[in-house]
Amino acid sequence: SERESLQIINSYARDFFAESIKSSSEGKAIGYSYFKERGFTESTIDKFQLGYCPRNEKSFTETAIEKGYKQKYLEQLGLTKTSNDRRFDFFSGRVMFPIHSVSGKVLGFGGRTLQTNSKTAKYFNSPESILYDKSKVLYGIYFAKSEIIKQDNCFLVEGYTDVISMAQAGVENVVSSSGTSLTKGQIKLIQRYTQNITVLYDSDPAGIKASFRGIDLLLEEGMTVKVCLFPEGEDPDSFAKSVGTDELKKYLAENQKDFVGFKTDVLLKGTENDPIQRAGLIKEIVGSIALIPDSITRSVYLKQTAAQFDFKEETLLNELNAIRRKAL
Ligand code: CTP
Ligand code: MN
Ligand code: MN
Ligand code: MN
Ligand code: MN
Repeated sequence: SERESLQIINSYARDFFAESIKSSSEGKAIGYSYFKERGFTESTIDKFQLGYCPRNEKSFTETAIEKGYKQKYLEQLGLTKTSNDRRFDFFSGRVMFPIHSVSGKVLGFGGRTLQTNSKTAKYFNSPESILYDKSKVLYGIYFAKSEIIKQDNCFLVEGYTDVISMAQAGVENVVSSSGTSLTKGQIKLIQRYTQNITVLYDSDPAGIKASFRGIDLLLEEGMTVKVCLFPEGEDPDSFAKSVGTDELKKYLAENQKDFVGFKTDVLLKGTENDPIQRAGLIKEIVGSIALIPDSITRSVYLKQTAAQFDFKEETLLNELNAIRRKAL
């Protein structure tokens, strides 16, 4: 079938790119060196099936066509592009991150440029295809699922390298939303394994904004949501690299907070006594609590929040009920 053909080609592409960083001269000099410089070990490179799409050597596309793979399918998967009847590799000159299904099949790829100030996007990603529905895929889920079940918790990060560096540091229950826009389909996938999530987005304005959005979506789906903020400017990859395994685990244990604590930290930073800020924060927190489907859980968070701000629970409950009525 068409689906099977596409799956075979994706596996072939993964093997071609992975083989390139092991045995082609360009792949070794550029792709392999890149991953080594980022601190990825041999076994990490193997586990995640990392690779390189050569630019100057015989192209992936021409090799695949010679093997008998149909150009139509190569294009459908976004591996091959054409312009003026010339074929070329979409991922040419990029290091390759295969994106796996829950069962380990390659659904698509992320490809990172090696240029430091390139005008093109840092990452190219496979387009949607019969195999690849972005809104239902989590990078790393295949490698993380058993540890997610074991820990009964899932760490959610933004990027490919965040997953890889955390796993290399020994924190294996980690998946990436591949960017900052978490979807309902991705949440459903996590919920096959656990109801508990800790959001570890980048500690920059985009990451913090996405954490706020993510929190609400996760709460709406009934998950228990924690957040851990890294020092400013760090992402899980850079932080894991800078501190090592023990300190990473210690930092996560000591700094993860429920969503109420996280919002309080971010929104009250340096303005603890400003009444307008406090009011805004309380509304923001109650707004999130209002999304929780379970009424007992809502009550627990509401009580905790009332105590934290020395507020009457009844006042917050009125606000919460008003919000829920409006949402109906
Ligand atoms: N992303 C993407 N396209 C881009 C930029 C980002 O698809 N042009 C996705 C990738 O999955 C990326 C994630 O968003 O891993 C997070 O983006 P960012 O934080 O900018 O990149 P990092 O993952 O930190 O990448 P690196 O460490 O390699 O610089
Ligand atoms: Mn980011
Ligand atoms: Mn990042
Ligand atoms: Mn990064
Ligand atoms: Mn909100």
